[in-house]
Amino acid sequence: MNNYNAPAAALQNKVILVTGAGDGIGRSAALTYAKYGATVILLGKTVKKLEAVYDEIIAAGGAEPAIVPLDLKGATSSHYNDMATTIAREFGKLDGVLHNAGLLGVLSPFEHINLASWHDIMQINVTAAMLMTQALIPVLKKAPAASVVFTSSGVGRVGRAYWGPYAVSKFATEGLMQVMADEYAGSSIRVNCINPGATRTAMRAKAYPGEDPMRLKTPEDLMWLYVYLMADDSKSENGKSLDAQPK
Ligand SMILES: NC(=O)c1ccc[n+]([C@@H]2O[C@H](COP(=O)([O-])OP(=O)(O)OC[C@H]3O[C@@H](n4cnc5c(N)ncnc54)[C@H](OP(=O)(O)O)[C@@H]3O)[C@@H](O)[C@H]2O)c1
Repeated sequence: MNNYNAPAAALQNKVILVTGAGDGIGRSAALTYAKYGATVILLGKTVKKLEAVYDEIIAAGGAEPAIVPLDLKGATSSHYNDMATTIAREFGKLDGVLHNAGLLGVLSPFEHINLASWHDIMQINVTAAMLMTQALIPVLKKAPAASVVFTSSGVGRVGRAYWGPYAVSKFATEGLMQVMADEYAGSSIRVNCINPGATRTAMRAKAYPGEDPMRLKTPEDLMWLYVYLMADDSKSENGKSLDAQPK
């Protein structure tokens, strides 16, 4: 699969939660899901950014989104349980979760890896996604076909010098996806990963400050795969790690 022409109503009547929805790839995914008919739950750290996405969705005629301001660094199971209870009460079901929020940290030689930074990256990139998914399982089960999508990276498949904790967190993300996919195989919940590939965002600019961003794909260029994995056309996909920029 290297493209998907989604029908205009591909995500009609679906409720989809996007983490890190205020910026970069998550912002683009939230806007795109709303364009294809979904009601989007916008989760992120910076409320102003989430409000700007909310306004853009409304201005484009999309369904009214919900905003969940949450810093994944400090969030606990009780935050996720409260959120799941609210989603069940307000919407009755959850059709999709895009785990997109992520922290790069500082690229450094192995010998300079800082333990506090290691913990933060694992917390935001792995533990938060695991705890949130655990809390959301009951409301995901209320949807006829639910899609859980994790965000990986090229360095989550093949390790690379100096990418330390970020790369390890993405290997863990791939592992979590595979474990869940095997466990939920045959159920109404499917679990997959997207590797976005090099994309013009703030995170990429931080990792490669000398690079010309205009040579990179934009988040919008990747959206075919983000929509596909939330649409019913991908119902049979489970346990896959797919590239948004296939070679
Ligand atoms: N861009 C690439 O080339 C590339 C390549 C491979 C994989 N990825 C992956 O794709 C995903 C999106 O990356 P991106 O490039 O779009 O990054 P980005 O522009 O830096 O956006 C990251 C998003 O995550 C949110 N976030 C970070 N820490 C958070 C926290 N503690 N609590 C809640 N939200 C938090 C940010 O919110 P705030 O803006 O409020 O801080 C932001 O909305 C990440 O998982 C990344 O690892 C990106």
